Amino acid sequence: MNRNWTPRSWREKPAGYMPDDYPDLRALRRTEEELARLPPLVFPNDARRLTTALARVTEGKALLLQGGDCAESFKEFTTDNIRDTFRLIVQMALVLTFAGGRPVVRVGRIAGQFAKPRSSPLETQGGLTLPSYRGDIINGMEFTAEARTPDPRRLLQAYHQSSATLNLVRAFSQGSYADLCELHRWTLDFVAASPHSERYRELADKVFESLCFMQALGLPSESPPVLGPVDVFTSHEALLLNFEEAMTRADLASGEWFDLSAHMLWVGERTRQLDGAHVEFLRGIKNPIGLKCGPTMSPDELLRLMDVLNPQGIAGRLTLIGRFGAESVAERLPALMAATRQDGRPVIWSIDPMHGNTHKAGNGYKTRAFDSIVSEVTSFLEIAAGEGVHPGGLHLEMTGQNVTECLGGSLPVTEADLSSRYHTHCDPRLNADQALQLAFVVADTLHSQRDPRARAA
Ligand code: PEP
Ligand code: CO
Repeated sequence: MNRNWTPRSWREKPAGYMPDDYPDLRALRRTEEELARLPPLVFPNDARRLTTALARVTEGKALLLQGGDCAESFKEFTTDNIRDTFRLIVQMALVLTFAGGRPVVRVGRIAGQFAKPRSSPLETQGGLTLPSYRGDIINGMEFTAEARTPDPRRLLQAYHQSSATLNLVRAFSQGSYADLCELHRWTLDFVAASPHSERYRELADKVFESLCFMQALGLPSESPPVLGPVDVFTSHEALLLNFEEAMTRADLASGEWFDLSAHMLWVGERTRQLDGAHVEFLRGIKNPIGLKCGPTMSPDELLRLMDVLNPQGIAGRLTLIGRFGAESVAERLPALMAATRQDGRPVIWSIDPMHGNTHKAGNGYKTRAFDSIVSEVTSFLEIAAGEGVHPGGLHLEMTGQNVTECLGGSLPVTEADLSSRYHTHCDPRLNADQALQLAFVVADTLHSQRDPRARAA
């Protein structure tokens, strides 16, 4: 048991990026109590199963694919959205499995990814200044004083939406969305439209023919042994600690504490202070956890965070999610990787090529260039190879919908296109084509790293 830790010990520490303007604190308390009585969203054994799967990533025997919305929203909550994100995760995972020759652990930014750390607590539009939008679990996006006032009822709505989302994710995991040949058909739709279609078709055909062949031999499509179970685990940033605390329960059998709002929780780049509330909360729960590592993090700081978050070096417990930006990754990442390699405690190194590559387009839209995203990912793979570290994971903001939020890709989105289908509630996401294309790029690179002859071909 962790010394001096309780699910509420974070309340003694400075908590950045959380709302401090709930007008009725008693109503917030009542909501927290109500949440604490509601059933868990996930179960301790499933969180443990994810730790075990991630332990294999630390050994270099598997890869982690983590992706989904920047911010889920009450408005965009539809079966189609969830189904298409699920399908995209499974599709990308298959491409990566084949190329990397290793199973892929699938984790969605889904079923709880609601709260957002905002760089400014206030937003001004046309002379009017209001609190910033902080995610649907806290306040509303509409630019009115009423919508922007934090409302505790939103915690309950987020809980119920997460529960319904998980219900769908579990059903899809067992149903026909896991069917490999179906996935091939969808992938071919994508490939047909790509200017690199010939190469992609070849790779896609190889991937899926092999898998369909195994399926034809009688290996059940719901759980092809080469891939492991078709689970998609859930994850989100543990930012709104009132919610996370209320969902934290002691496992009856072991007495260990789990945050049962998701299988995996991570601490964001803005809230990873050693003496802060968020690190305090995460150190005490037994779930697998993630730590965002940005361009200002020093090797020493990283090792001290590891001392707090995973002192015993439990394999699969800690995923380090680098997010430096295409320009900074080569300067910052090697020293961090060298530090963890020398330290010896197992970690997963994953790359988030989204958050360091955000800029404002000429027309005011927040966007990201697909080329910068690809560049940060390929640098990551090269740096890891140079440092002798397993490039364990990919962390993406993406959606199965055909949105126009990131620039470029094989069906290029231009600045002028951004306004046509820009639906994100926070940061720009890769659309399905862009995300799948990225999976093929990673697949290609991993394949050529495994087999140098492929590079020459
Ligand atoms: C996020 O993952 O949505 C996020 C806010 O990232 P970061 O903490 O890396 O900025
Ligand atoms: Co984001």
